[in-house]
Amino acid sequence: MATQRKKAPARAKGKGRANGRTSGRAAGRSRTARPPNALVLLRRDHEEVSAMFAKFEKRKDRMTSQQKAALAEEICTALSVHAQIEEEIFYPTVRHEIGDEDLMDEAEVEHGSLKELIAKIEGEGPAGDLFDAHVIVLGEYVKHHVKEEQGEMFKKVRATDLDLSELGGRMKARKGELMAAMGKGKPPRGSVGRRLASLVRDSFAIG
Ligand SMILES: [Fe+2]
Ligand SMILES: [Fe+2]
Repeated sequence: MATQRKKAPARAKGKGRANGRTSGRAAGRSRTARPPNALVLLRRDHEEVSAMFAKFEKRKDRMTSQQKAALAEEICTALSVHAQIEEEIFYPTVRHEIGDEDLMDEAEVEHGSLKELIAKIEGEGPAGDLFDAHVIVLGEYVKHHVKEEQGEMFKKVRATDLDLSELGGRMKARKGELMAAMGKGKPPRGSVGRRLASLVRDSFAIG
């Protein structure tokens, strides 16, 4: 697959245009659909999920089983979608560029461990003896994983000439598809992992 490169030097920081061009068509489009920087998009996901873990830990003894299940499901959905866009789009693209196979392999293995814990959480439900512990340990794994992504991987990505807006645009679009298909905002039924796997299978079958 062809690697996308930066098209032009970035414009000055701030609420400027998506690029330096001034044609009416481009300017109109940039106002409504400025592609997000891939690293910003992922960092925001990390922050969102970290806030959800903090909420779970703080309120776990006061929440009803239903509230706990809903929050855990929200966490699992957000993480599953995030992992999916990283595995489908971000990781393969940056693996090609940063020249650190070990770092990328470790990140993929860590995703495997996260998915195993997600499956356990979904399988047992809030009545399970280890439900709270599984959610909290998942939060700790995620914290470690995010530290490596943001501290090492993202640093290496910034040193490449990848077009991070183009990459972020593709990731945002895929994230939107996955979230929409999974019913964002409602507690999804059944296993997030199974539903995601089936969505991914369907999209490959169609496209
Ligand atoms: Fe990741
Ligand atoms: Fe991540």
